[in-house]
Amino acid sequence: MPAPIVAVTRSLPAPGVAPLLAAGFEVRHRDVDGPCPPDELHELVRGVDGVFALLSERIDEAFLDAAGPQLRVVANMAVGFDNVDVAACTARGVQVTNTPDVLTDATADLAWALILGAARRIPEADRLVRSGTWQGWRPMDLLGLTVAGKTLGILGMGKIGSAIARRATGFGMRIRYHNRTPSPEAAALGAELVDRATLFATSDVVVLAAPATPETHHVVDAAALATMRRSAILVNVARGTLVEESALVEALRAGTITAAGLDVYEFEPRLVDGLTACENTVLLPHLGSSTIEARAAMVELACGNITAVLGGRAPLTPVNDLTPRG
Ligand code: GLV
Repeated sequence: MPAPIVAVTRSLPAPGVAPLLAAGFEVRHRDVDGPCPPDELHELVRGVDGVFALLSERIDEAFLDAAGPQLRVVANMAVGFDNVDVAACTARGVQVTNTPDVLTDATADLAWALILGAARRIPEADRLVRSGTWQGWRPMDLLGLTVAGKTLGILGMGKIGSAIARRATGFGMRIRYHNRTPSPEAAALGAELVDRATLFATSDVVVLAAPATPETHHVVDAAALATMRRSAILVNVARGTLVEESALVEALRAGTITAAGLDVYEFEPRLVDGLTACENTVLLPHLGSSTIEARAAMVELACGNITAVLGGRAPLTPVNDLTPRG
């Protein structure tokens, strides 16, 4: 029997495609460190049995048509899977998998880097020192905000939200959260479940850690921003579509809120006009999971999912349920 074919859409960090080769697959690797345009993607996946995909690729009906009916698994190297039309995959019997857990700590750490970076104005301070115009210690230089003892509001209390909350206990923060269901782990940390409006209105730091869904689209819009404290900091480590980015620029300009720390953008990788001119922002290029350890574990897990499914076993971290309903 010929070896199953697995398409890999981009260059990968270590261990790269080694686990797929070790499993005996024929690997069709587009070893390019840049996004795969749809035409090239569709050509790459034609006739393959499995796809190692990234969040920059759209896995939609056109992709599934191009791949063909033999396709059995799409392993997304991300915890989020808003780039995948899961219903279309399920309808065609294609297993979708993601990479949860292994990136939780890296992403929670990055959320805290954004919280502290925005609260203490780290990018502005760095720019001042590099400019060569710094005159030495001054009592009023770049005054930031103390986070200790303040209220942290987390939207989305999944694994990443919980890890952000755990870290907040070390800062002596009061923790509030909003989630579809109560979180026992959050409760154990003393976090209080509140409605969304209360979360926005009463938090000093609002962190977005919820998946991108129709319900969370533009959950932070002009109206929501207007209810936040003027001293509030907004941090987004989820997906850019949770925030109406043009409204955020207005709010940052007008002083409706104090600062923002963003790792993700509404029209990624493009930023809306005016955002980069806002000094009171920390802007990162979607680095949530980007530690050597987390990225290696994500590659291993995605490869493990492909190996399991093409070997006739249950996926390790499934997104959709393909068991026939009876
Ligand atoms: C990154 O954004 C991920 O979803 O893993």
